[in-house]
Amino acid sequence: MKVYSTRMANLNGTATREIFKLLSRPEIISFAGGLPATEALPVAAVGDIAAELLSRPDAYSLLQYGTTEGYVPLLNRIPELVGEFGIKCENGGTLVISGGQQGIDLVCKVFLNAGDTVLVEDPTYLAALQIFNSYEAKAVGVRAGEDGLDISDLENKIVEFKPKLIYLVPTFSNPTGKTYSESNRKEIAALTAKYGVYVVEDDPYARLRFSGDKINALYSYAKADNIIYITSFSKILSPGLRVGAAVGSAEIIRKMAICKQGTDLHTSLLAQAITAEYLKRGLLVPAVQKSLPLYKSRKDAMMSAIDKYMPSEYEHTKPDGGLFIWGEFKGCKLDTAKLLGKAVERNVAYIQGSVFYADGGGSNTIRLNYSNASELNIEKGIKSLGEFFKEIIYKEKKNG
Ligand SMILES: Cc1ncc(COP(=O)(O)O)c(C=O)c1O
Repeated sequence: MKVYSTRMANLNGTATREIFKLLSRPEIISFAGGLPATEALPVAAVGDIAAELLSRPDAYSLLQYGTTEGYVPLLNRIPELVGEFGIKCENGGTLVISGGQQGIDLVCKVFLNAGDTVLVEDPTYLAALQIFNSYEAKAVGVRAGEDGLDISDLENKIVEFKPKLIYLVPTFSNPTGKTYSESNRKEIAALTAKYGVYVVEDDPYARLRFSGDKINALYSYAKADNIIYITSFSKILSPGLRVGAAVGSAEIIRKMAICKQGTDLHTSLLAQAITAEYLKRGLLVPAVQKSLPLYKSRKDAMMSAIDKYMPSEYEHTKPDGGLFIWGEFKGCKLDTAKLLGKAVERNVAYIQGSVFYADGGGSNTIRLNYSNASELNIEKGIKSLGEFFKEIIYKEKKNG
């Protein structure tokens, strides 16, 4: 008897979520996750704010139901925040979401029917691919280079697949850490407006820039109402609070709010109020500024450990921000998915790159996260990983 919905047929737990279960052994050094640095989580400030909020005479209201669109003091702060990346909210709508993940899901709920196509950068954020799968949509990968999407491949695929949506992480992408140039953003904005295709710009990492110049959001170059901007407080305040924001045309945001009613009624009011007060007290910018040297030194530690220990075949990105380094074992026929178990036996974990591809490929790639390990562990972990892959590549070459 077939009990489950057809959408479950292609759904498995994402590799990253499954790997978390494997990594509970304390001796394992994990570069697999995408967690912000523990040291960057503002425990004392959040504790202080929560205590103050709950001692106010109207504290009960934070433990009540709230409106789906969001807690007004938080909603009112979103335009200024996203304005720093060139986004103007005046003519559109804003919605508080329970993390960026929910924002992607709501856009998909609004736009996708079974059988629709979503274009994505290849490789792209794994858990977004899982959402497209859950709506029985087909993700198709678009090639990308150092500066962003390959515009002619994008145009060809728009014409060929007539996608309902294009999903992009233009700044410090997960998994590659790469950032689209300003001219690439302008070209994407112009092309998608020309063909009338909707774009989801997923932007959780823009504030985590430790080098290079700030770049405005793709949304800021929009030539039509076809871009939906999603951001999150997960990587700059706390992923546990589950607070983010979506910005877009009033019509699309309204439809997302209607879908959100059926998903969770509203984002936790207490979490929204804590976020709003954190912003009101002016804590966000200095806290992020303070965390950036930590992220940079961990990134630098990983880059120099890679230079020292990884095989010369490993070619990798050199991010200016975000949480990830992405690399490929050039010219090697490795299956990093199959090898992961063996690496974990040596107490080090990565994520196999193949899971980030829409339609296959990337079996010789891996994603490494540098934000959540100490410099000492980065050195130790990359040394093990380097020795491991050198042995594998040596064997491969010996066996022809
Ligand atoms: C590109 C991207 N989008 C969305 C998310 C989801 O984050 P959250 O729902 O915590 O905002 C992540 C988390 O790693 C991510 O890397």
